[in-house]
Amino acid sequence: MASILFVLNGPNLNALGKREPGIYGGQTLADIEALCRAEGEKLGFAVDFRQSNHEGDLVDWIHEAGDVAAGVAINAGAYTHTSIALHDAIRAVKTPVVELHLSNVHAREDFRH
Ligand code: DQA
Repeated sequence: MASILFVLNGPNLNALGKREPGIYGGQTLADIEALCRAEGEKLGFAVDFRQSNHEGDLVDWIHEAGDVAAGVAINAGAYTHTSIALHDAIRAVKTPVVELHLSNVHAREDFRH
């Protein structure tokens, strides 16, 4: 498989830096993208870094990753807790997909668990 990693970001992550900094910190999404690119380069991967507020975009990108990427890291934001479509998309591809979050969702409201 190609040496591309997709890093996918869901809704409201474009507002990092000004969005609830007490929870998500002061870094912008551009800062995080730069970190991902630098780390990817060290490991020999090109990083394809994307953000969308729209669930269908994330579904389409997971399908695309299934064809071209070695792996996916996804912070699906609030869709993590609600989206059966994303769950099914991840199950539909063979490419490994890792879910991640900036905050500890298990230490927050029940609906984020
Ligand atoms: C988040 C956690 C989600 O519960 C929340 O809706 C987000 C961000 C995180 O990175 O901590 O948008 O995914």
